Amino acid sequence: EATVSVHLRLNGIPVTIEVSPNAILLDVLREQLGLTGTKKGCDHGQCGACTVHLDGRAINACLRLAVMCEGQAITTIEGLANEGLAAGDALHPVQQAFLDHDAFQCGYCSPGQIMSAVALLEDRRVAGDIGTVREAMSGNLCRCGAYQNILAAIQDARL
Ligand code: FES
Repeated sequence: EATVSVHLRLNGIPVTIEVSPNAILLDVLREQLGLTGTKKGCDHGQCGACTVHLDGRAINACLRLAVMCEGQAITTIEGLANEGLAAGDALHPVQQAFLDHDAFQCGYCSPGQIMSAVALLEDRRVAGDIGTVREAMSGNLCRCGAYQNILAAIQDARL
């Protein structure tokens, strides 16, 4: 099967990958690139577990063909803490806020929740009122029902 070269900036590093034309970004991240922090829940755009940043915007990686990302910047949960920080060991402020607020139970939805929350908080046009946060996070489901603590963490996080 013919493959296509795709050039990405992945977690701040330029990479070139060879993918099949119909490869889904989520599968490429997890299976080809070993970035298993991005989770597969529903695999059809319903749960938000696969949320990554594409040029700074939160998207569902299960709905995106890898070839559609040519030339774009992708950030996954693995790259979040290193963005803009000289030392790579510190957590991103939103990761820290999730820890401080126990904003998870099983943790499966957490990477997607955190990626959506960071995109929301980085959008300076968005007011931090609870209604806005709820609306912005409505695509990220938590089957454990940790929503109260997730919302508290997002409201408390300071970028
Ligand atoms: Fe992509 Fe559920 S796995 S939205």
